[in-house]
Order: sequence, then C-alpha cells, then structure tokens
Amino acid sequence: MSGTSHIKAAGLKVMGIETSCDETAVAIVDGKKNILAHIVLSQVDDHADYGGVVPEIAARQHISNLDHLIRRTLAEAGVSIDELDAIAATTGPGLVGGLMVGVMTGKAIAAAAGKPFVAVNHLEGHALTARLVEDIKFPYLLLLMSGGHCQLLAAHGVGNYERLGSTIDDAAGEAFDKTAKLLGLGYPGGPAVETAACNGDPARFSLPTPMVGRPDCDFSFSGLKTAVRRIAETCVAERGALYPNDRADICAAFQAAMAASIEDRLQNAISLFREKAGAGRLPLVVAGGVAANQYLRDRIKATAKDNNMAFHAPPLALCTDNGAMIAWAGLERFARDPSINDKSFAPRPRWPLDSAAKPKVGSGRKGPKA
Ligand code: KG4
Ligand code: ZN
Repeated sequence: MSGTSHIKAAGLKVMGIETSCDETAVAIVDGKKNILAHIVLSQVDDHADYGGVVPEIAARQHISNLDHLIRRTLAEAGVSIDELDAIAATTGPGLVGGLMVGVMTGKAIAAAAGKPFVAVNHLEGHALTARLVEDIKFPYLLLLMSGGHCQLLAAHGVGNYERLGSTIDDAAGEAFDKTAKLLGLGYPGGPAVETAACNGDPARFSLPTPMVGRPDCDFSFSGLKTAVRRIAETCVAERGALYPNDRADICAAFQAAMAASIEDRLQNAISLFREKAGAGRLPLVVAGGVAANQYLRDRIKATAKDNNMAFHAPPLALCTDNGAMIAWAGLERFARDPSINDKSFAPRPRWPLDSAAKPKVGSGRKGPKA
C-alpha cells in the first residue's frame, strides 16, 4: 500500500468487537498472534423460536450485553484500555442495527481513550483468521463460506482481494440453515445437519450437484434446497412422517452434494489462481462458519492435496463469528497504516470485500448481496 508506513506488528495489542449478526463477541489479540482473551456470547436461544435471526432482537441483545462483555474481556486479558493500540469493530456487512451498536461503542471507547478506531470488514475478518493461527503468506486462494456469503477469492494482501467466483443465489450456510429448517432440525442449521448426517447413508437419495461442469467458479445452492424439500415431501407422502433415519440420509446426501459442487468449483478456481500466482505449493485457506463442518473440511483438504495446495483451516471456534478475527484484521490493517483512524466511517450493511467486482445478485439500491 503506497503512502503508508508499516510498523512492527509484534508489540501491538488490539481489541475487536463483533456485532454484525447474532453473536456478541469481543477479543483482544497481540501482534505475536496471542489471543489474550476471546469471549463469544451466542444469541441462539433468543432466535430459536423464530427459526432464524430476528434483526430487532439481535440489536437489543447486543446493546444489553456488549458493555459487560468488553469489561470481562479486558479483565480476562489483564489489559487496560490504555494499553491497547487500537479499537477495531465490524463496520459491515451485516444487520445494520447490530453494526451500529458495535461501531458506536467502539468509536466511543476509542474517542474517550484517545485511541485510533479501525473499521473492519467482517469478510476480511474471516479472510485473515488463518494468518492469526498460522504463518501463511500472501497470495493464497480463499474459500469463504458463511451464512451470508460463499466466495472464492485470490487474497493478494491485506485489503487486496480478487473475487474469482461467488454464489448466484443462496450462500452455503444459508443452504444448511434452510435445509435444517425444512427438515425440522432447528436453528442454527449447519451443526444440526452435520450431526444428523453422521448416521446417514449419502447414497439413499440422489441430489443434484449444482454448477458441476460449468467453466466458471460460481456457486448455486438454492436448487439443492428445493430438491431436499421434494425428497422430504415424498418421504412423508410414502411413510406418513419423516423419521430420524430419513433425516439422517437426506442430510448425508445434502452434504455430499454440496461437497461435490464445491470441489468442482474449487478445481476451476485453483486453475485460475495458478495462472495468477504460479505453480508450486500454494496455500488454500477455508474460512467462515461453514468451514467448521468436518465433512466439508475433509473433502476440501483432499482436493487441496490432489492439487499440491497446502490446506489451512482455522480451528472450529475461529471459523464461526468471533471477536478475535476482527481484532486480528484490525491489527493487520493498523500495522500497515498506523495513521488509520476510521472515526467517521459509517456502518455498511452491504460491503463487498473486493470493491471493484461487479455484483452477481442483489445489485439494488443497497449494493451487492452476496
Ligand atoms: O461465519 P458465520 O458464523 O456467520 C456469518 O458471517 O454468516 O457463519 C454462520 C453460518 C450459519 O449458516 C451456520 O449454519 C453455518 O455457518 N455453520 C455450519 C456449521 N457451523 C456453522 N454449517 C455447516 N456445518 C457446521 N458445522
Ligand atoms: Zn461471519
């Protein structure tokens, strides 16, 4: 990045605040990659009755919980606000009510303590998490799969991402959540589907493998969800109800179909990425809540191995939303540009990681969706 001076990251300490969806999370990390404290308060129980995240409830819960969570995080880390070098918060993309809570709180603390405020793109938080736990050099191929996004990106550097492909309809996590909902497995769907699939036979039902064979790197998961609905309806029509073994078999088939689609898309992205980054053993990083799925991790790891790519995945607790990823992304940005101070940065409910890319869906008034 021209016009900015880099500083030694090692001595830095940054607090990160995450409130973009249904987790209130705060963490403090240092430049030596220590997570000094890391607390995630899930709102799952508050939203479970509604089968999904209710933005109003989420924002109110963030308001009630954030102050004491920050106090607890500072106490657990044994760090005072004065000892922090910067305060980072997720400024988008996400639910605007929640974003406002985290951003206003972060800015207020930064202003009161005379510290810089760093605006962090939630997706960049996911994108850089693997570098918090391992020494991974740019460029790397990034497969980002979360509740709201599914993208393949060439990560060239901090703040420098090139989108190779993205979903044209549902995100991967969204497909898990919708599948779980229509099978009556509750919310959040990803872990429930994964657990059910463990006892299932993936071969009993045949599901489509979306996009397989197409020359691009895009994803599509809405057809998969519709196919799951049809199978579930057929089971009910034939046997009077959906039994646990039906659910297990459908979930196993769903995961297998999703994995096959992802593998195919990934294969194309690897070829594209190699054209840009060269031959040799390049890193492949997975990130986002869906990367917590062990079955998908194993399948993607195998694809990486077949293609002489070094596979990296954050530990499960750092795949789903957390404050450490925001603190770390804030630290990486601040280390590159110590003059950074985003106190006038307003929350952006839609904020693509690669601002140059043309949106594939939802390119309306509010900007690209996925
Ligand atoms: O990254 P994340 O915590 O939040 C967003 O930024 O969206 O991702 C949440 C998504 C949800 O859709 C959730 O169902 C999914 O990640 N997820 C999983 C698993 N754990 C969370 N999907 C599949 N398998 C899992 N084990
Ligand atoms: Zn996320």
